[in-house]
Amino acid sequence: MSQMSPGTAGSAGRALEGRLVLLGVTGSIAAYKAAELARGLGGLGAQVQVLMTPAAERFIGALTLEALTGRRVMRDPLELLPDGRIGHIVAADSCDAILVAPATARWLAAMSNGLADDVITATCLASAAPVIVAPAMDGEMYAHPATRTNVERLASYGYRIVEPEVGPLASGQVGEGRLAGAQRILDAVVGAVAGRAVRERDPAVRPPVSGAPRGSDLEGRRIVVTAGGTAEPIDPVRFIGNRSTGLMGVSVAEAALSRGADVTLIAGMTSVPLPGCATTILTPTAEEMRSAVLDALDGADALVMAAAVGDFRPRAPAGKKLTRENELVLELEPTRDILAEVGRRVREARAVVEGPPNGDRRVWAPVLVGFAAETGSLARVADKARRKGVDMLLANDVTEHGSGFGSATNRVTLVLPDGREEAWPLLPKEEVAHRLLDRIAGLLAERMAPDGVGQHNALGRARGSPSAPREEIAL
Ligand code: CTP
Repeated sequence: MSQMSPGTAGSAGRALEGRLVLLGVTGSIAAYKAAELARGLGGLGAQVQVLMTPAAERFIGALTLEALTGRRVMRDPLELLPDGRIGHIVAADSCDAILVAPATARWLAAMSNGLADDVITATCLASAAPVIVAPAMDGEMYAHPATRTNVERLASYGYRIVEPEVGPLASGQVGEGRLAGAQRILDAVVGAVAGRAVRERDPAVRPPVSGAPRGSDLEGRRIVVTAGGTAEPIDPVRFIGNRSTGLMGVSVAEAALSRGADVTLIAGMTSVPLPGCATTILTPTAEEMRSAVLDALDGADALVMAAAVGDFRPRAPAGKKLTRENELVLELEPTRDILAEVGRRVREARAVVEGPPNGDRRVWAPVLVGFAAETGSLARVADKARRKGVDMLLANDVTEHGSGFGSATNRVTLVLPDGREEAWPLLPKEEVAHRLLDRIAGLLAERMAPDGVGQHNALGRARGSPSAPREEIAL
């Protein structure tokens, strides 16, 4: 016999706190109710990862569920996560419960036979977590012996069946087939996990959180981003470079474009496609990057130095290709520190504009962000942030799995010059970019807050709200 949901016990408060619940949505008209279920699960404290069949997407947009859960919908049993792990196996291994709601007749048949041809059946087969199934379909379909047999079989696997209700159906008929009410379904999930330990709290082993879409909050902002490594010539064919692919900087540029910013991308050596809509300047060497950054900063709202700028370059690059006949000793000299120079110029320009402190004038300056690729400890980073005069540094340990050069993910720690730190979980670089832009947008909003007196652009032409008169300061 099918197992009924366990009443209402336990679903009050945050009964699913810290749990990861997979919400499988299949192609029934009731798929739109998945949005309410996602919210309900979230309200009980669960993290929710949605899995959808192709038919479900004809009834409800994945974007709706992504916005509600902050996670990318998983659709395909063959899909890999951004860090290369097999998506449905990671989801199956790390979840506390799987709720399939609504479950169609086709899905019940596929699952009862172990036919793993969609991401939800594949995940259920790979998981030891409790499975809760809430069927929804036409009354005749639900009453058919084939469906009844499938439901019985699922119940015999230990799956909890939340029987549909009697009521008006999409066909216009009245019968048993309406998806059970949200409360009954949520109660069944709470009942299924009650008494079980939370299986895995470490966010790194779960499917990465992707965050909700951000809209156009950077419209009217101009953001300068550097990306990639620099190449310092040894001779016309050889150079000193580094392993940066440019993916982090390009992710920031793309994320800023998607939020309406006007983006100038200053790219060194990259091995990822560059976004079409940005103004792009190619600068192979540190010195070329430096002048491009200083030019582009005029009137910019933020500078994000994601480039891995070479610290040394050959003092005297050969004009002709070096041959291997002689031993080669390279004399290197340090490159100029672009970020530190910009930080210094901003500080100096602010001092000129502000003059003696009088407390009633606010000076606007671009938000400065650096990246610090470290190996091992991040102990030096706060000092680096102060030295460079930045608003924040994003530091990562490039020796850590999933955080290295070319990886689609990154685990960064945001470090402020006053030493405060915030460790972010392992995230797709796209999401790291968005979280960084959230911070930049916040700082810009603070700096642009109308104060009734003149605001002054510390670097070049005036920006910001038209009502605020600005002074132009030449560097
Ligand atoms: N940076 C820069 N110009 C340089 C070197 C680095 O603008 N010549 C920027 C990078 O783009 C990054 C930040 O400074 O945003 C930190 O880079 P990092 O290499 O970690 O700092 P360094 O000053 O080179 O310190 P170290 O090599 O001692 O770690």
